[in-house]
Amino acid sequence: MTKKIRKMYEWLLADEWENRDPSKTPQGKGEPAPPIQKTMSVLTQCVSLPPVANLNLGNVSVRDAILRRSSRRVFSNEPLSLEELSYLLWATAGIRGIRKEGESAFRMVPSGGCRHPIETYLLINRIDGISPGLYHFQPFEHDLCFIREIPNQSEQIKNMCLGKVFCADAPVLFVWTAIPYRTEWCFGSVSPKLIAQDSGHICQNLYLAAESIGCGTCAVGAYHQHHADRLIGLDGINEFVIYMAPVGKQM
Ligand SMILES: Cc1cc2nc3c(=O)[nH]c(=O)nc-3n(C[C@H](O)[C@H](O)[C@H](O)COP(=O)(O)O)c2cc1C
Repeated sequence: MTKKIRKMYEWLLADEWENRDPSKTPQGKGEPAPPIQKTMSVLTQCVSLPPVANLNLGNVSVRDAILRRSSRRVFSNEPLSLEELSYLLWATAGIRGIRKEGESAFRMVPSGGCRHPIETYLLINRIDGISPGLYHFQPFEHDLCFIREIPNQSEQIKNMCLGKVFCADAPVLFVWTAIPYRTEWCFGSVSPKLIAQDSGHICQNLYLAAESIGCGTCAVGAYHQHHADRLIGLDGINEFVIYMAPVGKQM
């Protein structure tokens, strides 16, 4: 282990929970909770996704989904339907209920302190009825909002993902970002670890939900950080890319 890596572990495993003083966090100081969803400009074009309650999808048992799950890097050329995409977004970022008068919300995944710092963006390539480009998912409305077209999208994704063609050619690439202040507001210096842990739950739900509808995915941690932040349009400080996963139909 190099000294640099050793230092990173020391930081990650430091007993910050013991030393933490909740009265020193923004929440402890009485500062208002940050918004629990990133809001788009009123001019943004958003489409309502089919409500998941009306969809007959994903009837595979949890046991079978766990058994069949594997990282899939080869997909058929078939596009995903809007219903399938709606189901995958619900499984990974959907809302189960509002708590504390909108200060936080329960989702389909757990999150440290129910802070849910992760946002979902999609680089859409082949989804029925949706033009290619960059989109943002609004979990409270269950809407997909168009951000912009990406020139040479496939090439840009390939470069961002360090040459991974299975990311560039997939029908859709899920790109998860972190808004760290959502967690820092409550947890201060232990937040980086919690945020990384949170993103893992989301990706695992994607694996299992994809498996349950004959699709597949592969977690992607190896990507060019600055390129990814730039492509999504983030400053890389108040919000940054943390994880990705392409989705396509199984061959
Ligand atoms: C945190 C994390 C990051 C990963 N990053 C990549 C990646 O960048 N590229 C890739 O091809 N696979 C990536 N994988 C997938 C692993 O290679 C895969 O999970 C592992 O080989 C075990 O295979 P399985 O998922 O089929 O059980 C990642 C998995 C995890 C959990």
